Amino acid sequence: MYTLGIESTCDESGASVVKNGSEILSNVISSQATVHAPYGGVFPELASRSHLNDLLPCIEMALLEAKITPDELDLIAVATKPGLLGALLMGLSTAKALSFSWNLPLIDVDHVEAHLFAAMMPRLEKVSYPSLGVVLSGGHTFIALIHSDHTYTKVGSTVDDAIGEAFDKVATLLDLSYPGGPEIEKLAKKGNSSKYSFNPGSVKGKPLDFSFSGLKTNLLYTIKGQGAQKKSPSIITKSDKPHIAAAFQKTAFNDIVDKTLLAAHKHHCSEIYLGGGVTQNKCLRALFSEKTPLPVYWPPIGLSLDNAAMIAGLGAKKISSIKTKCAFRPTANSKTNIIKKNLIKLIAVK
Ligand code: KG4
Ligand code: ZN
Repeated sequence: MYTLGIESTCDESGASVVKNGSEILSNVISSQATVHAPYGGVFPELASRSHLNDLLPCIEMALLEAKITPDELDLIAVATKPGLLGALLMGLSTAKALSFSWNLPLIDVDHVEAHLFAAMMPRLEKVSYPSLGVVLSGGHTFIALIHSDHTYTKVGSTVDDAIGEAFDKVATLLDLSYPGGPEIEKLAKKGNSSKYSFNPGSVKGKPLDFSFSGLKTNLLYTIKGQGAQKKSPSIITKSDKPHIAAAFQKTAFNDIVDKTLLAAHKHHCSEIYLGGGVTQNKCLRALFSEKTPLPVYWPPIGLSLDNAAMIAGLGAKKISSIKTKCAFRPTANSKTNIIKKNLIKLIAVK
């Protein structure tokens, strides 16, 4: 079964072909980082326009790299939420047009669920339940219990900023470019994390929830002075910056690892799966392996940041469970196009 995945929720256009739900044949990503860099964050209208230009070439390249023709595809999966409205519309319109003209079933996928799914994708049959999932992205930060039927229950989440968003905002305070996460990681390597001390945020009565806004304000006052505004001039020297970056990173990541372990213990989970752009960070990975006695699984290369392979993988998984629930069984001599037509009907009914 060949699935074409399409991703356009924020500032990456992506297309990927995945075989049998887990074998990635291609994973093409066109990043808009340089488009948004001058604004220090994502400029929504520019994101939509870039998707309009980039999505079809990405899809063409994904098919070429996978050596698959549209005729051989069985399914299109597209991320339909959450994200920037205009950006989502570009992906969904493209997917609908291709589904119509190539006569292929189309399935919607939740982008955040796909981040959670990315690390499980290569070892779906081996996942033990309940497992713990942790999403650390630019827009979302939460801990979830993953149940055997692949539904999940959030057991902790941020009450303000997402961790990636906090990295991006602190990077702006340190005059680093967008996206800030990789810049902070690079700068932190040159710093000593114990030269500054920051307090992690906590949420009263909710030990598994995160709050990064206090930590961010702590950073603002350290960099620009007590009571300063974002636009105020810095009071630190250039040589202070790596130490501040290292201390911020360590404080935030220790908080994440500690709450993850607490959740795993409380809910009797024996495995931890992480997803989202921040999982690219090597310091985070090192901290997890240092502190966690449990097996920790990370997204494979290319599946941490926004990508379409995780969308295709989750789409394939979803369609197989719809087929099972509806007891749809193609007979041995069914023609592929009959299968496709039936699937279209199933989705329409759903
Ligand atoms: O998952 P993602 O690609 O997009 C969303 O769904 O939000 O995550 C993007 C976020 C950005 O905030 C970016 O700064 C952060 O991931 N990020 C990192 C690193 N690489 C990307 N944060 C910390 N360290 C990194 N190496
Ligand atoms: Zn994402």
